[in-house]
Amino acid sequence: PAGAKIAGVGMAVPTQYLTNDDLSELVDTNDEWIRTRTGIGKRHVISGDESLTSLAAEASKKALTAAGVAPEDLDLILLSTSSPDDLFGSACTVQAAIGATGALAVDLTAACSGFVVGVVNGVHFIRGGEYKNVLVIGADVLSRYVDWRDRGTCILFGDGCGAMVLTSTPDPSDCCLLGFDMHSDGTGNHNLTAQFAYEAGTDTAGKSKPTAEGGDAPSSRGAFCNIGMNGQEVFKFAVKTVPDTVSKSLEKAGMTSEDIDFLVMHQANQRIIDTAAKRFGLGPEKVVSNIAKYGNTSAGSVPIAMAEAVEEGRIKKGDIVATAGFGAGLTWASAILRW
Ligand code: ACO
Repeated sequence: PAGAKIAGVGMAVPTQYLTNDDLSELVDTNDEWIRTRTGIGKRHVISGDESLTSLAAEASKKALTAAGVAPEDLDLILLSTSSPDDLFGSACTVQAAIGATGALAVDLTAACSGFVVGVVNGVHFIRGGEYKNVLVIGADVLSRYVDWRDRGTCILFGDGCGAMVLTSTPDPSDCCLLGFDMHSDGTGNHNLTAQFAYEAGTDTAGKSKPTAEGGDAPSSRGAFCNIGMNGQEVFKFAVKTVPDTVSKSLEKAGMTSEDIDFLVMHQANQRIIDTAAKRFGLGPEKVVSNIAKYGNTSAGSVPIAMAEAVEEGRIKKGDIVATAGFGAGLTWASAILRW
């Protein structure tokens, strides 16, 4: 057994962004409604050569530099994403892009809870003594699945990525993960989806059939659909589960909300963040929010917020950071981290 520490974090967002005014030219909305109901001012969207892999590689290189860890010394890369460049996974292309030749690289899908789930997994591999250096990435490019005609969802999502390097320490009692709590409820799956569907009226047997010419019968093809969301249900789910899960993690850590130096939760709606902060009696100085700049970057939001707070000199060594993710699945997860 070994201890585990947070060695470095990094982030990356696409160069282009859409303001609320830009969106008001696409759908019937306005800057005031979006800011009041969500806290969002703009969201970054990939363009040109940018991809999930390019964002993840950029954020990962920054995290490795901050950690002082060489890419070839990584043992494991966990890429939390719901929007890979390749259905077989994108962790391996990130591995190639950063030169992490010795690492196993795998994707992990738990929507907006994915980064927290990834950190818990990464710490356990280190604690078990098997791995020394683990890179956990949270990244999504949900703009690929946004219906730009749907004002209920297109205002919310943005693309982005954050990464964290975890490394082992010789003292097993020295662990950055003080408590965690993770859940799923598939009975609520229909409230937030980006499902695969066959074209209407075609064979839905689930197989593409070879044709006499050697190709696939196009009639059996389908595609992943745009994001569908019941916003009010997801809102209710979030304001209930986030305080509950953070309370459980605090209890497991033997702590109370008074021990929290910073709350860094999934950036989905400023009103959800405010509700959780109020429940724990945390003033704005203890709450990290950058939703105004980036919108909801799904698995990217928690590590992006962490990386910015570190860069700004807010989160410092020794700080207690309560983190929580929630979203599609449905999934929700929290962790108490010592920086
Ligand atoms: N601009 C203007 N009006 C709008 C817009 C818009 N962009 N969107 C909806 N409206 C209208 C509605 O049509 C409705 O009009 P009506 O009263 O005439 O019917 C009115 O505004 C109120 O709509 P609500 O849906 O009740 O608005 P609400 O306050 O619930 O805000 C929102 C909607 C922002 C989507 C909110 O419900 C929310 O944030 N939910 C949580 C979503 C979330 O967190 N999702 C991501 C999870 S993470 C993941 O896994 C990807």
